[in-house]
Amino acid sequence: MKIIYNITTAFFILSFSFFYFYGDHTESKSVHKFYRMEEVSQHNSATSCWIVIKNQIFDVTDYNQDHPAPPDVILKWCGKESTAAFNTKDQKKGKPHSKFATQILPEFYIGDLQIN
Ligand code: HEM
Repeated sequence: MKIIYNITTAFFILSFSFFYFYGDHTESKSVHKFYRMEEVSQHNSATSCWIVIKNQIFDVTDYNQDHPAPPDVILKWCGKESTAAFNTKDQKKGKPHSKFATQILPEFYIGDLQIN
């Protein structure tokens, strides 16, 4: 009886591990949402702030309070095309954001810009 129990348990553990390691975890990421600029431009305030960087849209509403600059620095760009602002930190002799900033940016990605 014990052997049957052991075989059944081993079977379940092996099946679970197989699906866990080889299963397709990318399904949800492959679905792209597209938004038109008219829609993006409505998210232009502290209560909903979307910015466009290289035709990708980021919802930075919740990030704004963690951003290490005064809130109006990002607020000015809500609902707008912000690639240059992000690349220069919106300063004349602008320096790009750090590697860290570029790494956390994808956390806020919500979709792509519908161009046509
Ligand atoms: C497009 C609008 C944005 C503007 C104008 C802007 C501007 C700035 C400014 C003025 C600073 C502080 C000065 C400095 O550290 O040199 C700063 C720092 C920083 N920003 Fe932004 N920022 C924007 C968007 C973002 C976004 C979307 C993220 C990340 C999701 C981000 C992440 C950071 C980080 C991590 C820092 C600390 C310094 C660094 O790592 O480069 N910023 N930003």
